Amino acid sequence: MADKPEYVPGLAGVPAARSSVCLINGAEGKLQYRGYPIEQLAEKCTYEQVAYMLLFGEFATDDELKAFEAELARERSLKFRIIDVLKNLPERGHPMDALTAAVASMGMFYPGDHVEDLEFRRLSAVRLVAKLPTVVAAWHRIRQGDNPIEPRADLGHAANFLYMLHGEEPDELTAKIMDVALILHAEHSMNASTFTARVTGSTLADPYAAVASAIGSLAGPLHGGANERVLSLLETIPDSKPENVRRWAEDKLARKEKIMGFGHRVYKAKDPRATVLQGLVGQLFEKFGSSPIYGVATELEKQMEQLVGHKGIYPNVDFYSGIVYEKMGIPIDLFTPVFAIARVAGWLAHLLEQLQDNRIFRPSQIWVGEADRTVP
Ligand code: ACO
Repeated sequence: MADKPEYVPGLAGVPAARSSVCLINGAEGKLQYRGYPIEQLAEKCTYEQVAYMLLFGEFATDDELKAFEAELARERSLKFRIIDVLKNLPERGHPMDALTAAVASMGMFYPGDHVEDLEFRRLSAVRLVAKLPTVVAAWHRIRQGDNPIEPRADLGHAANFLYMLHGEEPDELTAKIMDVALILHAEHSMNASTFTARVTGSTLADPYAAVASAIGSLAGPLHGGANERVLSLLETIPDSKPENVRRWAEDKLARKEKIMGFGHRVYKAKDPRATVLQGLVGQLFEKFGSSPIYGVATELEKQMEQLVGHKGIYPNVDFYSGIVYEKMGIPIDLFTPVFAIARVAGWLAHLLEQLQDNRIFRPSQIWVGEADRTVP
């Protein structure tokens, strides 16, 4: 008789796909999208270039890129009835739920015959990448009682998002930093939300359903939701003073509390995205002035290395992203939606890959209940 299959909590280390989208070497802290190191992508590319490369496998030629950018710009605006969906949601609700609702509704506004239709797949992917920033910015304005701002086709993806959010065009440095932050968050292999997108997609559900379910998965505090909690956690360090950090961290660790923004299932070295983001924080503060939170954050990184570095716990991408976004005037509860705006390219790259050689996901279970019982 065959051995009983082993139960692996969290499917840790169990391969769920053969993939050429993203390579991570957790021990060395390396991250590559389709074989290109994240540091080079952050330095040399725009989000649009990276999204194209993730979705379609190779970088676009100049002509292909122009056409892709133009199509994204055309697809940015929202149908007024999708805006109506947002207007009917409770303004105190979390923006991730508003985003899930709007994306799920897109499946009704843009129905396709079948996800096996390649053009339906491609167009749905372009629409989703184009429209997510508009949904997030529109929701933020609607909940404050303002009208959404129409997207501008003459601005890049990142600059246009900040424009729709704040009502004014961002300066060049801020737009560039937003663009890099989107690149850094665009993809990260088989994490919970990507797995969710692939599982939903494997049923041949449409791409809007796959992305809506991935957004729901990203929202949790152990995944994308951690970035919101980092800032509020840092604010609990007494007097926001670096000299109080060590004691604060020791107390938390003694109580076995998790310190948000640290640790990663895959990285056992510093997350390379945190290193790039830390550099961006430096540039932002040089231009716009520093804040005490940065001193506290760098001190916490130093102390955590001494306290738990031996366990492979280092800063992850969420540790510095919140500090960057706050400096850009992005409200804390939009940090995770901004993550989704970026990650949608990765989810869709995985979905397209899944559909190329699809088999519906259907894992097994280990039965631990009673059997053959009689109804009383
Ligand atoms: N603070 C303190 N201790 C930690 C932390 C942390 N952030 N993360 C892990 N540890 C400790 C655990 O207490 C455990 O210690 P023990 O062996 O003495 O019991 C050990 O490290 C292993 O921890 P696990 O939770 O089993 O590690 P796992 O790989 O399952 O979890 C996770 C990874 C969920 C990211 C975890 O590190 C965590 O909860 N971090 C805080 C939340 C966070 O920042 N999430 C964002 C991740 S990045 C992203 O999703 C984009």
